[in-house]
This record gives sequence, C-alpha cells and structure tokens, in this order.
Amino acid sequence: MSMIKKVGVLTSGGDAPGMNAAIRAVVRAALHHNLEVVGIRKGYKGMIAGDFIPLLSKDVSNIIQRGGTILGTARSEEFRTEEGRRKAYGNLVGHSIDACVVIGGDGSFQGAGKFSSEFDIPFVGIPGTIDNDLYGTDYTIGYDTALNTVVEAVDRIRDTASAHDRMFFIEVMGRGAGFIALHSGIACGAEAILIPEVDGQEEALHDYLQAQGNKSSNIILVAEGNNVGGAEQIASQISVKYPDYDVRVNVLGHMQRGGSPSAFDRFLASRLGVAAVDALIDNQRSIMVGFVNHDIVHVPFNKTINTSKNLNKILLDVADILAH
Ligand code: ADP
Ligand code: F6P
Repeated sequence: MSMIKKVGVLTSGGDAPGMNAAIRAVVRAALHHNLEVVGIRKGYKGMIAGDFIPLLSKDVSNIIQRGGTILGTARSEEFRTEEGRRKAYGNLVGHSIDACVVIGGDGSFQGAGKFSSEFDIPFVGIPGTIDNDLYGTDYTIGYDTALNTVVEAVDRIRDTASAHDRMFFIEVMGRGAGFIALHSGIACGAEAILIPEVDGQEEALHDYLQAQGNKSSNIILVAEGNNVGGAEQIASQISVKYPDYDVRVNVLGHMQRGGSPSAFDRFLASRLGVAAVDALIDNQRSIMVGFVNHDIVHVPFNKTINTSKNLNKILLDVADILAH
C-alpha cells in the first residue's frame, strides 16, 4: 500500500521538446490516482528556493504540443552541495511533498540519486534530453524531434550546397555522444559523419575526399563532441589542404532544442509520465523509467549513470555505403 499523497514534478538540465508532454502526463496520472501534484520551478534551483506551484488538470491543458518546459529548468551548483540539498529537503517537507518525478538527463539523475540516499523522499526519473545518451532506454524525450529539426535544416542547406557546388560542415549537438549526428546523417544522406565514439575519422575523411573524384557538393555532419575538432576547425583544415573546395560552416546550435515535439516524443513522454507515477505508487525509488523494445522498463539510477550507452557503429558503414 503506497503512503504517497503529494508528488513534486520538475524539469532539470537542458530543456528538450516533449518535456511539457511529460509534465502533463505526470500531473494527469497522479490526479487519476487521487494524488496531489506540485510543480517545482527551475529544476533543483527552484527546489532550493521553494519555488513551488500546485498543478491541477487544467494547468497542463494545451501544453502537449509546446516545446521548452512550462516549469522552466536550470543547472544548480548549490544542489551539488549537502547544504543545498538539505535546504531543498526542508522545502519539500514544508510543502508535504513525499515523492518526486524529475525529468532530465544523467546529471539530474545523479543529483536525485544522491538526494534520495540522504533523505527519505523517493525520486523517479524520466529521460529527457535531445542527446539520447542515457543507458537503459532506447530513446530519450526530445531526441526524435531534434533529429527531425536537423534533417529539415540540412535539407535546406543542401539546396545551397548543390546550387553552388559547396562543401558544408554542419555541427550538431549531442555533448559527448554521436546519436544525433549519426542518425540524422543517415536520414539526410550526409556524405560523411564525424562522431565522438570513433577514432581516426580524420584519415577516413581525407580518403573519402581524395576518392570522390569530381563530386563537388558535400554535406559533412560533425557531432560537437567528436575527436577531430569543431566544424569551424575541421573546415579550416580542409580548406588549406583542398583549396579547390568552396567550404562553408553551419553550427545549428540551440535551434535543435526548440520547437513543437514530434508525435513520437509526445507518445514517449505520455507513456513515461504514466509509468513514473505508477512506479512511485509501487514504492519504487531511485530508478529511471525507460522505453526498450517498445515497452516500459525500470533502470536503477546507478546503472544509467555509470553505464555508457552503445551506439551502433555498423550504422557508420550504412552511411558510408549510401554516400557513394
Ligand atoms: P542533465 O540532467 O541534462 O545531464 P546537468 O548535468 O546540468 O544536466 O545536471 C542537472 C543538475 O543536476 C545540475 O545542475 C545539478 O544541480 C544536478 N547534479 C548533477 N550532478 C550532480 C551531482 N553529482 N550531485 C548533485 N547534484 C548533481
Ligand atoms: O544536453 C543537451 C545539450 O543541448 C547538449 O547537446 C549541448 O552540448 C548542451 O546541452 C548545451 O548546453 P547549454 O544550453 O547549457 O549551452
């Protein structure tokens, strides 16, 4: 029998499209089980400041399609300290909040895991980041939308690449992971893809450029965390070595984090939101709800934080075969 009466919900770390759909799902699932819900604004920063708002069903109307997060998000240095977490605990107790759902990435889960080991308030996590870099879930909320955003942007850039016979180096996000670059690269037919998970791609890129003969329009997708360098840096090296190429650079940046979530991200967020509330009612703590083979799974925070998620490197061969 669950003792939980009031659930706090927060978004933490970088925003991702679909976070609002997840907030909506948590609120409505909790209300369905006769639990009260409190929104914690600005992630752990708001938890420390006591920036809380009650959430009713109508408060999450008309948000499933909106990017960003209605609760706001933040990165909080203070939550990394024991004193900060003690303040946060005092505020949760003061508002009779006896369980929390945190929507964020591995940093947010690290904070939640630490907090739950120190204080008697259970946390369940929902994976929300465009990077898709969390072990224990096939997809994170926001990744699919970011892929579609990148593909749309690259399609547009390719028009100019073709019209002017140019080589574009396009840098995409992903922090230390290459999921966005690899999957969007295949989806938009990139000629080469540079990702952090593979060494020695500089040579492969040179081999490709030397072998490609007179193909003059190229899209090279560069994951921001790759080992060769940022798009600007690689482009300037290539310009020196191959002066005949008309080289341009595009860093897509934060446009990848915004916009209305895709159908898949809304669906994923809705399922994970319901699963997170179910998990809390089932007395689970310090776990992430994930989505593996189209089913809900529970993964301990420790496991998702300490295990790196494998990227399928065979997909680089797929990209390579299709680029020639
Ligand atoms: P993400 O959740 O997207 O990975 P961050 O890495 O910025 O984003 O983490 C979000 C927040 O989680 C941090 O600003 C901090 O408040 C908290 N956090 C991260 N790591 C820890 C930690 N080791 N201990 C306590 N809190 C942490
Ligand atoms: O984790 C999401 C992400 O967008 C990464 O892809 C990127 O490296 C980082 O956040 C950027 O963070 P900020 O918005 O703080 O510049």
